[in-house]
Amino acid sequence: MIPYGHQLIEKEDIEAVIGVLTSDWLTTGPYIEKFEKSLCEYTGAHHAIAVNSATSALDIAVQALELPPGSEVISTAFTFAATNNALLYNGLKPVFADILEDTRNIDPQEIRRKITPSTRAIMVVDYAGHPCDLNEIREIADEHDLYLIEDAAHALGSTYNGKKIGTFSDITIFSFHPVKPITTGEGGAALTKNSDLADKMYLLRSHGVVKPGNHTIDTGQSWQYDMTHLGRNYRLTDIQAALGLSQMKKLDLFIRKRNELADQYQKELSEVPFIQLPQTRKGIIHGWHLYTLLVHDIDRNRFFAYMREKGIGVNVHYIPTYRFSYYLNHLPQKFMDYPVTEDVFSRIITLPLHPGMSKTDTNKVIDSVITYNQK
Ligand SMILES: Cc1ncc(COP(=O)(O)O)c(C=O)c1O
Repeated sequence: MIPYGHQLIEKEDIEAVIGVLTSDWLTTGPYIEKFEKSLCEYTGAHHAIAVNSATSALDIAVQALELPPGSEVISTAFTFAATNNALLYNGLKPVFADILEDTRNIDPQEIRRKITPSTRAIMVVDYAGHPCDLNEIREIADEHDLYLIEDAAHALGSTYNGKKIGTFSDITIFSFHPVKPITTGEGGAALTKNSDLADKMYLLRSHGVVKPGNHTIDTGQSWQYDMTHLGRNYRLTDIQAALGLSQMKKLDLFIRKRNELADQYQKELSEVPFIQLPQTRKGIIHGWHLYTLLVHDIDRNRFFAYMREKGIGVNVHYIPTYRFSYYLNHLPQKFMDYPVTEDVFSRIITLPLHPGMSKTDTNKVIDSVITYNQK
């Protein structure tokens, strides 16, 4: 099976990890700081807080805002469950806004429609690595004095109007899961330009404990410490940070490779009558974490089964969050409120795309799609 996403680990990545295994620091040591610095240099953010997953990064980001319980946060349902779960377990209420068909990103007009006196923040997702309408959404947030959190789990390395994703929102989070733009095995980070938010997130990463010295290495001055926030253990290991640092050096190469593969799909699938190709808007460098098609005039589920039979690891990203039992039981929302999300969900399919794919792999994917057309 050709998977829809896969890590690319090379000799230098392995050597970086081995180097840490034989050092004094296995966790929260010098490689965490180096990795965080490289994320800041790459994106232009002032602070990067590396944690053990993007789910943890979302949690500390939402916690750091200290919003009143029950506050509404306008969000998208066309995402992985983790995005909105972070709101629920912090006692906040996700209010879903519909998406745009072309990018599958949250629709700014729908955000405006959903604002109430209880709204305190907007949570956006750069779906598949295509940035949202960040200028317009930032304007809406500023107009209404709302925080903006960007779930950029898919979008490290993507560009919006000439600038890398990472500094458009009050807090931006990334994921380093194996299928993501770079990997640390599991891992994530929260980035911000705001020092107060950063200070809180550093504490929330590690038990809410304040120690003398810096955020990582104990300077050994005193046994004293205080606990000021209700933090958990969300620390990333130095082993993972060394892998992340090594992967960061290849991020632009990975993005270029993903763009080449996407270009090939766009060209060679353009004549297939039952598919709508994904679009990239002006001013965007797409990260192509996911390459998704919308099908029409065929049954998506039958097409899915056929592709899987052919050994193509197609997938569906995503089941809209409001459809999950947990959400239906705790936050009933009517499906019909989201006509675009529902339509896209019924027709979407993800084709394999990752930087380690060979010519044979892509040709097999393309041939399988075209053959279905001929059936
Ligand atoms: C949009 C989005 N947000 C958050 C996450 C959670 O990432 P992690 O697996 O690093 O916790 C994912 C994971 O797939 C995701 O796709």
